[in-house]
Amino acid sequence: MTSKLKITIIGGGVGGYPAAIKAARIGAAVTLVEKDLLGGTCLNRGCIPTKSLLHAGEVVQTMQEAETFGVHCKGYIIDFAAMMARKQAVVNQLRNGVQGLLKKKKVNIIRGSARLLEPGKVKIAETGEVIQSDKVLIATGSKPRQFDFKGSAGLDLLNSDQALELAKLPKSVVIIGGGVIGLEFAQIFNRLGVEVTVLELLEDIAAGIDTDIASVLRRIMTGRGINIITGADIQRLSKKKGLITVHYYAAGAAQIAVGEKIIMAVGRVPVTEGLGAEKIGLDMKKGALVVSDQMETNLPGVYAAGDVTGKTMLAHAAAAESECAVDNMFGRKKQINFRTIPGCIYTSPEVGCVGLTEAAARERFDVEVGRFPLTACGKALVVNETEGFVKIVADKKHGEIIGVHIVGPRATDLIAEAVLGMSMEMTVEELANAVHPHPTLSESLMEAAMSIHGGAIHIP
Ligand code: FAD
Ligand code: NAI
Repeated sequence: MTSKLKITIIGGGVGGYPAAIKAARIGAAVTLVEKDLLGGTCLNRGCIPTKSLLHAGEVVQTMQEAETFGVHCKGYIIDFAAMMARKQAVVNQLRNGVQGLLKKKKVNIIRGSARLLEPGKVKIAETGEVIQSDKVLIATGSKPRQFDFKGSAGLDLLNSDQALELAKLPKSVVIIGGGVIGLEFAQIFNRLGVEVTVLELLEDIAAGIDTDIASVLRRIMTGRGINIITGADIQRLSKKKGLITVHYYAAGAAQIAVGEKIIMAVGRVPVTEGLGAEKIGLDMKKGALVVSDQMETNLPGVYAAGDVTGKTMLAHAAAAESECAVDNMFGRKKQINFRTIPGCIYTSPEVGCVGLTEAAARERFDVEVGRFPLTACGKALVVNETEGFVKIVADKKHGEIIGVHIVGPRATDLIAEAVLGMSMEMTVEELANAVHPHPTLSESLMEAAMSIHGGAIHIP
């Protein structure tokens, strides 16, 4: 009888716990070490709580627009405490679910901070316990990047963790950083009636997404009352009568933005403190653990997954990486196709993207671009959300789809079709010929493909 493979996983976030479940299912003896909450950032302080509050805001938006649909609901009340309580209830239920799944798979869960003494040897700081295993997966995640601006000492600048724990809805917020977190928080507060200013250093919001998508998103969010300033070079902060003033330069002039609360959303950095990474000789680059395509570090048998690798700081990427690492621990040669990992922003309208932006594609290929505006989509009119479009970028030579970019209602769900198609090397012709259900938003993907192949029916 062969003995079970022993695996220790450091970090119980979405880069760690799926690996634990998968490895146990295959037959390993798994230990999972978590120093804080099972589920990590995504479940406790990230994806789930933000989407819960964004959805609450969507309900408010529906109330505000109800008259368009012949429903009168004057006098509704926004109960922020109840919204936060529901958010927490959702988080708690999911966390209990994760714990239940791990227990069912007989994963040995250790509460504590893990440190690597050598490859395969992990020590728990709080108890001194030493765990010896055949393979180790490091999934210690990331934390908010913190900046000190002139004058910020002693000021209560919130990061995303703290912004999710507010006891009271502020009247105004200034958000520093117009990336994904900044925009999603801007959306949450805007829908709840808070005055919102976003200050972004770069000339555009949501760096890295297709510029056509970013400009439509910016126009619509601005139209909904969010003050978005780009090219904002922050000089200092000051406080007077409970309000914080951010002094910045933009468009060549000194300007200010004032808020009851300031939220910093200027990126995240990998967590490696206390891990002993340098001491045991793990390769690192810009604070992140360097891994191969098989998610293995430079030390054989030591793998890493999720935000700590600094690759794609997204929950679904972290989960895929953790499962990929487990496959490779068992000798099943596996690697992830990062080309088809989607990126989503859960604003209103939503954004869903996969593959190359038009600009990036044009640098490498002779491309064709298909578009379909949501004004021409029947279902978009039914739900009264006709702002936005679908853009398909294809390689002209073979017709293969190499990028899909959507801004509009349910873009984060619609992008899954493009992910599946692109992972199967779908061509524009194949998408155009696949009959889509009517009336649905998904027809816009088909029509965008038809606009390259044969002609879209609902645009002139
Ligand atoms: P983490 O979730 O950070 O988990 C790491 C875990 O390791 C933590 O629980 C930590 O306590 C533990 N740990 C660290 N060091 C040790 C140690 N030495 N010993 C023991 N345990 C340790 N992504 C999306 O795809 N969609 C979204 O909608 C989305 N929304 C987000 C919203 C916000 C506000 C934020 C901040 C992030 C969001 N993300 C989203 C990103 C997503 O949360 C991360 O990509 C994901 O959580 C990464 O998972 P991870 O397991 O690598 O790290
Ligand atoms: P980010 O990298 O997306 O955006 C940070 C922004 O801050 C950048 O646009 C940057 O130019 C700006 N910035 C930096 N310094 C600045 C300064 N001094 N003044 C003004 N602006 C400044 O990082 P963010 O938004 O913090 O999110 C971190 C990560 O979390 C994301 O990259 C993403 O991977 C993940 N995430 C994913 C979500 C999703 O999938 N929907 C939601 C939220 C987070």
